[in-house]
Amino acid sequence: MKTRIKLLSFTAMALVMTLSGCQLENKTMEKKETTVIDAIMSRRSIRQYKDTPVERELLQKIAECGVHAPNAMNKQEWEVRIVDDAAYLNEVTELMKVDMPFFVKSDEPNFRNGFRNATAIIAVACPDEPMGMTLINIGLMGENMCLAAQELGLGTCVMAGPSTFLTNNEKAKPYLDKLGFSEGYKLRYVLGVGYPDETPAAKPRDLSKIKFVD
Ligand SMILES: Cc1cc2nc3c(=O)[nH]c(=O)nc-3n(C[C@H](O)[C@H](O)[C@H](O)COP(=O)(O)O)c2cc1C
Repeated sequence: MKTRIKLLSFTAMALVMTLSGCQLENKTMEKKETTVIDAIMSRRSIRQYKDTPVERELLQKIAECGVHAPNAMNKQEWEVRIVDDAAYLNEVTELMKVDMPFFVKSDEPNFRNGFRNATAIIAVACPDEPMGMTLINIGLMGENMCLAAQELGLGTCVMAGPSTFLTNNEKAKPYLDKLGFSEGYKLRYVLGVGYPDETPAAKPRDLSKIKFVD
């Protein structure tokens, strides 16, 4: 009897190991389906999103991909804040409607908020410094985040509008303060994130900007 139980548990363990091995293999295969180049070429700025909230693990993963971007001397002079609270986004939208109505576009169909309807935002700040390196760093960080989101089936839109509003509008100060950036750090852009509900066509790119130098 004992030998039979031992044999059974050994078989069960072997089955679990084989299955998890298959799962791992499948995950690796899934990953291979989206190459970085695919992600770059298929990414679009998304401004319509499904109601489905984005899982926090995914938002965290996107932000982590952001901080893995190359950055000058690896000083990592950036701060990242994730907001998935609809009340925050809606309250800032109400303020924007009054002082920045041209940006909010509340007359558009399926309007949700002034963050281009995103269900979550990732706000990025960096210090002002003479060489402009910190701006380059957060630019690279931004694209890392867009591409990570793309692979995860999420849409993004880099936005300067809401960050300018949050930074410059007196009434928006409590919302800027809530982001809790360190002294000397300035909010530079927000990345809208969500499950896409549109498939916009690619905007044209001017390839004549690229030249080989012989
Ligand atoms: C620094 C920066 C600021 C942007 N600000 C806004 C913005 O405030 N609102 C918006 O809808 N899109 C904004 N965009 C998105 C651009 O409009 C978009 O990337 C561009 O039109 C190219 O389209 P694509 O991203 O679909 O390729 C911004 C993009 C960047 C890089």
